Amino acid sequence: MGITRRSFLMQSAMAAARLAGRESRWPLMANSSGSPRFEASSLSQFVDPLPVLPRVPQVGYRPSPENAGVKLPYFRVVMHQFEAKIHRDLKPTRVWGFGSNSPGPILEMRAGEGVLVEWINELPTRHLFTIDHNIHGAEAGQPDVRAVVHLHGSRTGPANDGYPEHWYAPGKSVVCHYPNGQEPAMLWYHDHALGINRLNMFAGLFGVSFVRDEFEDSLNLPRDNHELPLVLYDRIFDVDGQLAYPVGADPKARWVPEVLGDAILVNGKLYPYIEVEARKYRLRILNGANARSFHLTFSTTVDQQWFTRFHLIGSDQGLLSAPVEATRVRLAPAERADLIFDFSRYAGTRVVLRNDNFNVMEFRVSARSSRDESTFPKVLRPVRKLSESDASKTRILTLDEIDDPARRPVMNLLNNTRWNMPVTENPTLDSIEIWNFVNLTDDDHPIHLHLVRFQILDRRPFSVYTYKSTGQLKYTGSAVPPEPGEAGWKDTVRAQHGTVTRIIIRFEGFTGRFVWHCHILEHEDNEMMRPFDVVGTSIPHPPSLSPRRG
Ligand code: C2O
Ligand code: CU
Ligand code: CU
Repeated sequence: MGITRRSFLMQSAMAAARLAGRESRWPLMANSSGSPRFEASSLSQFVDPLPVLPRVPQVGYRPSPENAGVKLPYFRVVMHQFEAKIHRDLKPTRVWGFGSNSPGPILEMRAGEGVLVEWINELPTRHLFTIDHNIHGAEAGQPDVRAVVHLHGSRTGPANDGYPEHWYAPGKSVVCHYPNGQEPAMLWYHDHALGINRLNMFAGLFGVSFVRDEFEDSLNLPRDNHELPLVLYDRIFDVDGQLAYPVGADPKARWVPEVLGDAILVNGKLYPYIEVEARKYRLRILNGANARSFHLTFSTTVDQQWFTRFHLIGSDQGLLSAPVEATRVRLAPAERADLIFDFSRYAGTRVVLRNDNFNVMEFRVSARSSRDESTFPKVLRPVRKLSESDASKTRILTLDEIDDPARRPVMNLLNNTRWNMPVTENPTLDSIEIWNFVNLTDDDHPIHLHLVRFQILDRRPFSVYTYKSTGQLKYTGSAVPPEPGEAGWKDTVRAQHGTVTRIIIRFEGFTGRFVWHCHILEHEDNEMMRPFDVVGTSIPHPPSLSPRRG
């Protein structure tokens, strides 16, 4: 489960040869840049050090929009185009990023302490990639380059959430207030402009953010140099070292259903390596890809192990209740994994992070023994289960693919509804709902809701044929509970094909308009996104965040 059938076919095909023209159901793809594709597998591996992501520097204090007497930390982050060295032997690549970084610098925040971030658009006025003007929100007649930043996983108000229609052109900026009334987690900020989000993200407009608190600090997990954020994503390059976003061969239909690249980057480098000490590290992995799911393993040479053991300690919205031993981790786009890897057993050797059968990056473990003052707690953070009996509403929501007569996908929908149609999901503030994602397509879709965190109840196979012909849910197997690594708080869930995926959500924090969508960006851009309204009276209540130890 997990890997989409279509991406599986594509990934296997890629192993054999190149990317172009692999599947008959796909529209013919061309290269937007016109230059031939470069084969990433021809490059030497592990010659570039892994970039250490810098921090967003605080530039001062500004009054809180909620209370002018309170001053909040103020950050400025500028979107730029610049050239980046992706690999020693690849020509410099034109990318978009924040400051001079792609992925952008880390935005560090504390739970319960609000911050203000000014997101400044200083991108050029010409886009790096071909825009498909047939797509909703990308119609001709508006600026080609426009962006709006969303902080994924943040519990923030509707005016600060990067609503897809709230984009702005180069020369403009917007200040967002993130109150951080939430538990610690790895968040990420990224563009969300309607109809061109997949292109802006492919260009590099994303970065990592952390929310932390005293309780998490007190767990004494590996920190500072021993905590490594790893942002994974795949790209396609042309022979000039430039990013090549594929387009449909028909000039009137440039959109392609999913983009998968043969080059897997970590923090902006292809096949990087890092020198690590022989001790425990905390790895915080984000899948920042447009469409690719990662199936990650660690291989070690000492014990001739392809599937070395590690411990998962958290997922999208923070820590699990207890560590879970694992040998692999699966991440769909936008999902995060928090894990502890103990390199002490591998002193003087190399550990390779792999995706399926491909090397991604290398850890060179020092031969010297290291002092490791960090702890490996048996218990992490209480995760209170939401109870199904507390749900005031259950929604059945289909995931749909619309095909042309040749059975090629032309768009994806949520509940057969387009972006522009009236809002249909309107939960009440502080109520609990159960959402059933009835996946009628051949693909898995990572479904993400803004504003909230949720828990996965289960996944259950059903007859797609019966549903399509009668509208009845006929289950064909029993309900499967979430995997141990996804049993905590989530904000993105893999809704597998032929399966009903149930999540339980409390709509906390704010009223107003937000969005939910598939995080495969090609789908999201082409109608697989819907607004939702949280209704009722907003009573700001300080959430109690930190559980007491012991
Ligand atoms: Cu990563 Cu709408 O979000
Ligand atoms: Cu989000
Ligand atoms: Cu999708």
